[in-house]
Amino acid sequence: MTANADRGTWSSKMGFILAGAGSAIGLGNIWRFPMITGQYGGAAFVMVYLGSVFLLSLAVLIAELSLGRATQRNPVGMYNALAPGTAWKLFGVLGVLTGWGISSFYSVVAGWTFGYIFKTAAGAFNNLGPDEIASAFTNFISNPVASIGLHAVFMCLTMLILFGGVKEGIERWSKILMPLLFFILIFLVVRSVTLDGAEKGLSFYLLPQWDHLSLRGVAAAIGQAFFSLSIGMGTMITYGSYLSKKENLISSARWVAVLDTSVALLAGLAIMPAIFAFGLDPQIGAGLIFVVLPNVFNEIFLGNLFGTGFFILLAIAAITSLISIVEVPAAYFIDELKMSRKKAVTISGGGAFLAGIPAALNGNFLDWMNIIFGQYSLIIGSLGVSLFVGWKWGTAKVAAELRAGNPNFKSDKTYAFFIRFFAPVCITLLLIFVVAFPGLF
Ligand code: TRP
Repeated sequence: MTANADRGTWSSKMGFILAGAGSAIGLGNIWRFPMITGQYGGAAFVMVYLGSVFLLSLAVLIAELSLGRATQRNPVGMYNALAPGTAWKLFGVLGVLTGWGISSFYSVVAGWTFGYIFKTAAGAFNNLGPDEIASAFTNFISNPVASIGLHAVFMCLTMLILFGGVKEGIERWSKILMPLLFFILIFLVVRSVTLDGAEKGLSFYLLPQWDHLSLRGVAAAIGQAFFSLSIGMGTMITYGSYLSKKENLISSARWVAVLDTSVALLAGLAIMPAIFAFGLDPQIGAGLIFVVLPNVFNEIFLGNLFGTGFFILLAIAAITSLISIVEVPAAYFIDELKMSRKKAVTISGGGAFLAGIPAALNGNFLDWMNIIFGQYSLIIGSLGVSLFVGWKWGTAKVAAELRAGNPNFKSDKTYAFFIRFFAPVCITLLLIFVVAFPGLF
């Protein structure tokens, strides 16, 4: 039973996969993945990332969806329902806070994307060289009116969609333009890998140099896998709570992971060769795609049109993700504090807007928010979910939940191994390392 009629459910399996992929695919794939792949040395980082998606994150994703569907609750309500009166709910509280933390800076970057739609359409980067394009970006983000204004516009759009509720709001949007984004990326990849000087970027991206990988890089790769799959915060608990018992959670989760990872890998393949072809620095950080891509568009026939289309689709991908982040605190207010959807979304989105103002004004602050909430918080949240499912709720219960939509499910032991031992041990070791040796890397 849903606790509150304002919650809603997905209309079909396809509806969930599209909404789940809509949440997963966003700035995480196209902005964040290339940025940190550049910072942490390329191919070796990508290998760890891939391992982390399919060995670690998929197990946590399945756990989150099961918990959400079993309890029909937001993260805090879920822990309260399954382990009443215990401290487990602190993981849920962390998730709600992380929702604010991530949505605050996410909306700022989404605002930049929005600004780039208009700049590209107006031909602002035509005839500019790589250095000029880089300084155009710096000027753009150091204009406080533009960055706060665009952040505000983006957050308002997100809230408007969320007022419509889960099915009408989230699902419909996710269905529409994601496939187009995929095609435009493939086209970009083709242009990028055929640029003069692309080989260097290709080898950076595809040939692992293990000595370039640090432990901090491993933590970043695992954090990125969690960020990209929207786990560790409760998004997938909340989205799972809108799933019907008929759905096969494992195949839904696998679909979401495959789609999400393909988009990230394609984005890397579009960006990395171009970085080197234009003589740019892979480590420049948050501005990476905004500094690299206009150069690629300049090399394409009808590049302005194409670039405008790209930034429109990226903004849409960002909005289908941002709604899934803002929805977490909102679902908490609706379920636990019995607020109306309108009020819950207003507080959740309005709070995230205010929290994002410092990030809109200061790139350094944005980087810190990204590391603290986008990496450490998610690692802790995922540890919480795997410990909870493996040791408290129990592997028999999760297997029963998985069998609900998939009577033939027989991999109880394999799944139990991953969620009870593999995930908690890997994540704990990593956390110990990064906390104990903060200056080592
Ligand atoms: N996965 C999304 C992206 O890649 C962002 C996102 C949505 C997210 N929900 C989340 C990240 C929950 C962490 C946790 O853009």
